[in-house]
Amino acid sequence: MTGKDIGVYKIAVIPGDGTGPEVVAEAVKVLSAAGEKFGFTFEITEFDLGGERYKRTGEILPDSALDELRGFDSILLGAIGHPDVAPGILEKGILLKARFELDQYINLRPVRLYPGVETPLKDKGPEEIDYVVVRENTGDQYTGAGGFTMKGTPQEVAVQSAVYSRFQVDRCLKYAFEYARKYGKKARGKGDVNTVALVGKTNVLTYIYDLWERAFHEMGERDYPDIRRDYYHVDACCMWMVKNPEWFDVLVTGNMFGDIITDLGAITQGGMGLAAGGNINPEGVSMFEPIGGSAPKYTGQGIINPLACICAAGMMLETLGEQPAADAVENAVKFVTAHKLKSMAAGAMGYSTGEVGDLVAQKTADGYI
Ligand code: IPM
Ligand code: MN
Repeated sequence: MTGKDIGVYKIAVIPGDGTGPEVVAEAVKVLSAAGEKFGFTFEITEFDLGGERYKRTGEILPDSALDELRGFDSILLGAIGHPDVAPGILEKGILLKARFELDQYINLRPVRLYPGVETPLKDKGPEEIDYVVVRENTGDQYTGAGGFTMKGTPQEVAVQSAVYSRFQVDRCLKYAFEYARKYGKKARGKGDVNTVALVGKTNVLTYIYDLWERAFHEMGERDYPDIRRDYYHVDACCMWMVKNPEWFDVLVTGNMFGDIITDLGAITQGGMGLAAGGNINPEGVSMFEPIGGSAPKYTGQGIINPLACICAAGMMLETLGEQPAADAVENAVKFVTAHKLKSMAAGAMGYSTGEVGDLVAQKTADGYI
């Protein structure tokens, strides 16, 4: 916490595009309820960023806004992506720029099936689908290293390089090991060992994942002998995510593989309505978001599922060090999925977006554990 007044968190809220503002409003409602119950408050500042502002002013993420964002304790983001704006402009200009500039080098994505939520995986329930992916969030093909030669000719060549430094790999691995010690299956009383599994492709990407693998075992052996180390090739990992998700505890991987496998993970936990993530700078300002997009076709109807954004807010509380409040939010969400919602799909929940927020806020305010 950078907070000047103890117990007052300065939060930047970026509602963004489409259904972003609707889900963010519910997450803020739940944060307020948690604060009231657990004895802290929020000072919320909204940032008008996204497709509408871009259309109006041509501005995407001005440096002045970025500088302001650096002064907050945390950031909550709704959704980025607008049907009138070419794909990539806002995603790269806002989301990726914020991740890079604020050096949010971890993308933490829990894959957790809540009770009452349907999964496409046969015979798997909340006991089996309960792990996290630690996705490195600054390197790989995302650095933009590459280019064209002979562009526009039949001989055109395009190169997009995957880039990793030892420094990037080490800080990501350290986070994963520390996370496993604190929140792994043993730490949570769900198993007899905490495990970190590296997900790579050492049989083909013989430079990048060689580096990852050496760094993984060196650090594990030296600093985390209490933590079990596993390794999966990313393609095989996709199979096991479907067939045996119970094998996993903490998965750690590069940016591109992490992007891909977390969409697979999200669908196994009930879809984008439930999947939350945190872009985390453990030494700086983090940004929490539902993984799903802006869902333009549902905008303004009050039917979108706000739970992913509420869960993202819960992750924010955990990162701010408000663990009991974070637990209360997660348990309130579990109560609502188990006992209230008919379905997780937009328009089929049996409640409006606002009513779902009310239900979670109410349970959170009760201090439901
Ligand atoms: C995600 C998204 C982004 C990514 C896009 C929108 C740039 O897919 O957060 O997973 O690739 O990281
Ligand atoms: Mn993605």
